Amino acid sequence: MRKAKASSAEYDDAPPRAAALVESLRAFGYELPTALADLVDNSIFANARHVWLHFHWAGAQSAIAVIDDGDGMDEPTLLEAMRPGSTNPRETRDPRDLGRFGLGLKTASFSQGRRVTVRTRRKGGPMLTRSWDLDHIAKVDAWQLLRTAGPRAVEFSARLDTLPKGTAVIWENMDRIVPDARTGSDADEHTFLSRADAVRAHLAATFHRFLAGPRALRLLLNDHPIEPWDTFLSTETATQHRPPERLKCGGAIVEVEPFVLPHLSKVDPETHRQAAGRRGWNAHQGFYIYRNRRLLVAGDWLGLAGWKAEEHYKLARIRVDVPNSLDHAWAIDVTKSRAQPPAALRGDLERIGRTTRSLAKQVYSHRGAKLMPVATEDRVFLWEQRAKHHQVSYRLNREHPLIRTATAACSDKAKLRALLRLIEETIPVPLITITDREKPDQTIGPFESAKEGEVLDVMRLGNMHAFANRAC
Ligand SMILES: Nc1ncnc2c1ncn2[C@@H]1O[C@H](COP(=O)(O)OP(=O)(O)O)[C@@H](O)[C@H]1O
Ligand SMILES: [Mg+2]
Repeated sequence: MRKAKASSAEYDDAPPRAAALVESLRAFGYELPTALADLVDNSIFANARHVWLHFHWAGAQSAIAVIDDGDGMDEPTLLEAMRPGSTNPRETRDPRDLGRFGLGLKTASFSQGRRVTVRTRRKGGPMLTRSWDLDHIAKVDAWQLLRTAGPRAVEFSARLDTLPKGTAVIWENMDRIVPDARTGSDADEHTFLSRADAVRAHLAATFHRFLAGPRALRLLLNDHPIEPWDTFLSTETATQHRPPERLKCGGAIVEVEPFVLPHLSKVDPETHRQAAGRRGWNAHQGFYIYRNRRLLVAGDWLGLAGWKAEEHYKLARIRVDVPNSLDHAWAIDVTKSRAQPPAALRGDLERIGRTTRSLAKQVYSHRGAKLMPVATEDRVFLWEQRAKHHQVSYRLNREHPLIRTATAACSDKAKLRALLRLIEETIPVPLITITDREKPDQTIGPFESAKEGEVLDVMRLGNMHAFANRAC
């Protein structure tokens, strides 16, 4: 055994033993889908527009490659990226960053295979390669990062050679997936490829918000695009969108938006089947925790009020958006599959959960058919979100009392219509989103800075006639 080096009179140097620690790093509790999601996180943060996942079956030489067209890395960045614990989890992260512990690339990869190769290049830069080989580490008992690729890593990431920039992570010697290196049976092949289905479903759910919209990420598994999982059936007219709430927590904002999904009779059978998710309707009820739009928890009552998943609450799905500055408060784990709400928010989440559960129960027992309080008389939304072919836009509700009154009173209706269209078309969504994400405590909610009289005025105007006399 190597002796700890005495470094000074004050302390002994006691670095971890490479051969032992690397084996422990394999046991963080990843499964294949969560491990791959961790790699996709890195690709997204590196601004990738495409991520290709390839499952290659070749018996004991089987491999999985994840290739992206993101920014790639230069040599110092690559060396730092390969180091276990590359970033201190206590450091403040870029608000868009999907990482935290500086471990994901390594722990996710080690959990599935004994050889991980990273090939990467920045635009105009050289192709760089580094590789961890756990057998080599075990032999030399030192953190020797190899400069050569795994045996078939270059072949399996050939796509990267056709891209101007990007990164490929290739896993080989996958003892967890092909446990016995001597076999290469049909049954093994079947097991290996059927894992791809679980991966597809997991990534479709985890990244559904990145996979939709005008500049959507393209995620392809063995060249087949992964379609987003429509978690909240948000484009179905029978889905109840409850008004979102912004809860203050540790200097940041947590946004909570409840949905009550439609009764079975209100959607077509295929949509209903898809919405059931990988674990089925019952298991997918509750809170959906997103960190930077990336799903961490896909339906759980979070131990609130002793609630359990029950058949009659299965239509309740509540979206919770947490910024990465609150990782510690939410006890996010390395595999990014667990999160616990901070004590300060439990009361609010319980209140919102109770209302949503009660509505979900009414819809489930069909009494909700007439209920649909998407917009009631005393609560009419001015803005509506529209989704079409995975593209989202915002429209002013022409049925809002103020708009109706204004339209009725306006002598030049064409001009008013043009103004409304102009507002809708030019609403600076990206700017609002960025500002809100970067400075959540500086964005003010509706009427937060308004005087009481002003609020009352607007409320009264909602169904008054004086407005009709104003010039429009
Ligand atoms: N696909 C990739 N493209 C560009 N850089 C990457 C990629 N994957 C990993 N990196 C770099 O490696 C670093 C370490 O990644 P990781 O071990 O997952 O930890 P974390 O994501 O918590 O920082 C990242 O911060 C990033 O700089
Ligand atoms: Mg990461």
